[in-house]
Amino acid sequence: MSFTDNLLSLTAPLRERAVKVLPGGITRSTLFVAPHPPYAVSGDGAWVTDSTGHRVIDCNNNYTSLIHGHNNPEVMAAAAAVMTGGTAFGLPTEAEIDFAELLSQRVGLPSWRFCNSGTEAVMMAVRAARAYTGRDLLVRFEGSYHGTSDAVVASDSPGIPRGLAADVAVLPQADAETFTALMRRRGSDVAAVLIDLMPNRAGLVPATQEFAELVRSETERHGALMIVDEVITLRLGIGGLHQRYGITPDLVTAAKIIGGGFPAGALGGRAEVLEPFNPLGSGRVGWGGTFSANPVTLRAGQRAMELFDAAAIERLNALGDELRQGLVQAGVTATGFGSLTRLHHPQTTGLWWKLYEKGVLAGTNGLIALSTPMDTTDTAHILEAIVSSYKELA
Ligand SMILES: Cc1ncc(COP(=O)(O)O)c(C=O)c1O
Repeated sequence: MSFTDNLLSLTAPLRERAVKVLPGGITRSTLFVAPHPPYAVSGDGAWVTDSTGHRVIDCNNNYTSLIHGHNNPEVMAAAAAVMTGGTAFGLPTEAEIDFAELLSQRVGLPSWRFCNSGTEAVMMAVRAARAYTGRDLLVRFEGSYHGTSDAVVASDSPGIPRGLAADVAVLPQADAETFTALMRRRGSDVAAVLIDLMPNRAGLVPATQEFAELVRSETERHGALMIVDEVITLRLGIGGLHQRYGITPDLVTAAKIIGGGFPAGALGGRAEVLEPFNPLGSGRVGWGGTFSANPVTLRAGQRAMELFDAAAIERLNALGDELRQGLVQAGVTATGFGSLTRLHHPQTTGLWWKLYEKGVLAGTNGLIALSTPMDTTDTAHILEAIVSSYKELA
C-alpha cells in the first residue's frame, strides 16, 4: 500500500466523523488537500506529529504564523502566567498598552488597534480609510490574498452582494500603467490602495521599488491612503517588509506572528487616521470584538516578538535565502524572500503529499515558511525532500 493510502486508511475513522458535522469534513478551506489532510496531534520546536505517528518538519507553521515553531518555552510561560489569573476581561489590560508600544516602535506607526485575525485587521483598515477620507473606493490588486471579507474576495464569488463591485477596483498585479490611469481617472474617489508587497497567492514575488514608490506617491497626490498588508510579511523585517522599501504607509495590517501561536490581528496607523475610533473624539467608528486585545494572546505575542529581534530575523532570512538558492541551483522554480519561499509546481497536490511522505509539511500551495528552531541540518533535509519530490514527479 502507498504511504498516502495507508495514512488515509488510518485516518478514516476521524474523517468519517468529520464529514458528518463539518462541510467536506473541514473548517479551514486553506488547509484542505485532496482527498483529505492528515490530522495533527502535537508539535514541538520545528516538528509536528500526526495522528498516525508520522513526524514532519513544519514548513507550514500554521500558515507562517509560528515564528518560533511549537511549544517555545518562553512564549508558553508568558501565556501561562496570564491564564492562571484569568483569560479574558470586560476591562482593558496593561498588555494592550505594552504591545502597542512595542509595535509602534518596531513598525514606526504611532497608533494601534487589536483584533483577532488578519481578515479582521484588513476589514478594520478599510473601515478606517473610508471613515477618515469620507470616500468609498478601495483599490486592490488581482491575486493578492487579504483574507475573506467581502471587499477583498472576487466580487463574483457566491455570497458577495452584487453592488459591492462598484466600490472596489481590482487592478492587474504590479501594472504601473493601469494603476496610474485609474488614479488619474478616479483618484478623488479612492479611499485607499491596499497592497501586499510580496503577495503569496500571486506568486510570492516582491514588488519592485518603483511600483511601491508609485503607490505611495499616487496615493499622496490624490489624498488617498496607502494600506500595506503585512499579515505575512511582518516576519521579514523588524517592522515589516515596507521598511525595506523606505516608504511609510498610512496604515499597516499585522497578524500571524504577533499572536505567539494564538489568534491575533492588529492595525497600525497615523494617529489622525485612526482617530475615528477614538470614543472621546467624534467617535464615528465603533468597533468592539469580545476577544480583541485578549491578554493571553498579547502577552504570548509580545514575548514571541521580543525573541524575534533583529539578529533572529537576519539569521532566519539568511537560512531561507540559502535554501532558495539551493533549490534554484537544483532546477526548482522557487520565489520569495528571506524566510518565505514558494515552490511553483503544476502538481500542487501531488507535491504536497510527496513532501509530507518525506517528512516535510508545506503550505497547500507550495509555501515554505521557516521558523527559528530550524538550522542548516533542517534546511538540508527540506532541500533534499523537495528536490527528490520534484524528480519523482517528473
Ligand atoms: C496577506 C494576508 N492578509 C490577510 C490574511 C488573512 O489573515 P487571517 O487568516 O489571519 O484572517 C492573510 C492570511 O493568510 C494574508 O496572507
